Amino acid sequence: MMERTFVMIKPDGVGRGLVGECIRRFEQRGLVLLAIKMQCLSVERAALHYKEHEGKPFYEGLIAFITSGPTLQMVWEGNDAVAQVRKMNGATNCLEAGPGTIRGDFGLSMQKNLIHASDSRETAAREIGLYFSDEEIVSTKSLCPEWLC
Ligand code: CMP
Repeated sequence: MMERTFVMIKPDGVGRGLVGECIRRFEQRGLVLLAIKMQCLSVERAALHYKEHEGKPFYEGLIAFITSGPTLQMVWEGNDAVAQVRKMNGATNCLEAGPGTIRGDFGLSMQKNLIHASDSRETAAREIGLYFSDEEIVSTKSLCPEWLC
């Protein structure tokens, strides 16, 4: 099903120069980039983004890490985009992420796991709205070529 997902390259991914590698992989898969921006997250925005994790033992460290340097936000569109990107990113813990995934190929850590992507269509809508206005997202009906659907 044609859908959109939100993807964020974390400070470790940006700092290690993996922005191009991640974008290349998503484009190669057939996903289409609809919006992109770069910013250092404020603690307030990071707290909004990760509000479901508030109170968990790793929460403070997660907020400190995600606000520690530049991050890249993107909206990608494609057939089953949410699940496709989650599969391409690999398991949350890089130790469990399979070879061929972004985390499995480039990461070692649970916290510094390079990239974030929405886990459902509902989460994608919420996360896209957290970072992008409608005007910042390419607005043609669908840019995804029909031979990729
Ligand atoms: P992400 O996909 O961005 O969603 C929540 C993030 O919290 C996750 O990736 C990890 O970076 C981090 N995280 C989840 N579980 C743990 C944990 N047990 N210890 C440290 N960080 C975690």
